[in-house]
Amino acid sequence: MSTPIVELKAVGKHFRGADGSKRSVLEGVDFTLREGEIVALLGQSGSGKSTMLRIMAGLIQADDGQVLYRGMPLYGTARGIRMVFQSFALFPWLTVQKNVELGLEAQGMAPEERARRAEKVIELIGLSGFEGALPRELSGGMRQRVGIARALVMEPEVLLMDEAFSALDVLTGERLREEILELWQSGQIPTKAILVVSHNIEEAVMMADRVLIFASDPGRVRAELPISLPQPRKAESNEVRQLIDKVYELMTASSRRGGLISEKEVKLQLGDRLPQADIAHMEGILETLAEEPFHGRADLPKIAEETELTDAELLEVLNALLLLGFAYLTNGDILMTELGGRYVKASNIERQEMFGKQLLEHVPLIAYICHGLQQDKSGDLPEDLFLKLLRFTLSEEEAERALRVAIEWGRYGDLFEYNFNTGVIQLPEEDQPAAD
Ligand SMILES: Nc1ncnc2c1ncn2[C@@H]1O[C@H](COP(=O)(O)OP(=O)(O)OP(=O)(O)O)[C@@H](O)[C@H]1O
Ligand SMILES: [Mg+2]
Repeated sequence: MSTPIVELKAVGKHFRGADGSKRSVLEGVDFTLREGEIVALLGQSGSGKSTMLRIMAGLIQADDGQVLYRGMPLYGTARGIRMVFQSFALFPWLTVQKNVELGLEAQGMAPEERARRAEKVIELIGLSGFEGALPRELSGGMRQRVGIARALVMEPEVLLMDEAFSALDVLTGERLREEILELWQSGQIPTKAILVVSHNIEEAVMMADRVLIFASDPGRVRAELPISLPQPRKAESNEVRQLIDKVYELMTASSRRGGLISEKEVKLQLGDRLPQADIAHMEGILETLAEEPFHGRADLPKIAEETELTDAELLEVLNALLLLGFAYLTNGDILMTELGGRYVKASNIERQEMFGKQLLEHVPLIAYICHGLQQDKSGDLPEDLFLKLLRFTLSEEEAERALRVAIEWGRYGDLFEYNFNTGVIQLPEEDQPAAD
């Protein structure tokens, strides 16, 4: 085993919700980043990946456990650890050159030395000729190159990339990723270890020596897959395809609230987050699944390819289908249930009815809203009431998201209506209590 550079030992982090309650975001995270490796971190949205990276970069502090850098406790940011963010976060009034020099300037490096170092990195990252340009004059891909140059100019031992390629279009993202890999493999950068957070399973398998899969609520490392294939890897090769399959399997393996909800544990609590799934996507998957060549059963990567959803979107949609009893998973395959089969063949009205019935049965938040509306004399209630409730267990943002999903689904299932101007939820017209 090669030398550890950054070690997380039983790291925990919590935040306070709007009502002051404590929410655990990371718990018992053990992880060691070693010399010579690229590690990819995958996990559902909100599982705490960015929080973990920020802790490793020294931007925020862990509440529990220990973070060691070269065997010593990490306090604040370390010169040798740099982070690249998804958003470009460049200073718009500074030229490319000045943006890149910024960190060196903060270190008090002399102007000539600064300029020399910046120029070298600008050339490495393919920005020669753009030194004098302002960020707004650059394409998204170029801007992200500046963001990476800004990290590389510090000659970090450890590079932490938080979805550094995901704001770019696919081809640009792939090209940039390949270039970084080349710089790393050819030793043109002094970086000794890289950790990338990604939502893209293929990206993780193509880049990494090791893939970590994060579980949510609270976030922790749930599974780890070493990848020993030599570089460069071919995305279409059998080995890569098999590994992608394996990662899907690990990500969807059942665990209480960890990855996807499994067949036996389709039991949500009132204050749980809801899958961020679009109904059109849910129906799209079911319809695709019913057709040739799948006949009700498909390999997850195949269905991902067929439906052109991102991995993050697909996982949310799968979660919703499992939750509502339209599909289930075994060994990395998705299978349509008998109900799912009937749903695909049903008319629109029948679909709405079936959908509404599943919601009442499996989504406690929606059942709770319906119950409240039926109890209320006027048959309508302000959404704030439910938001307050959700904030006990979820962050502000997640409470908002959970309620949006509940409202969208409930409207589709014809369980209630929603007034977008007033934020009032009400029973559908035909169910409203008669005026007296
Ligand atoms: N400063 C903060 N205050 C309160 N809650 C926070 C804060 N930062 C993050 N959180 C919460 O911590 C959880 C994890 O967030 P984090 O951004 O680390 O997730 P992530 O895995 O990076 O998600 P994504 O894939 O969407 O980027 C979320 O529930 C988020 O709402
Ligand atoms: Mg994140």
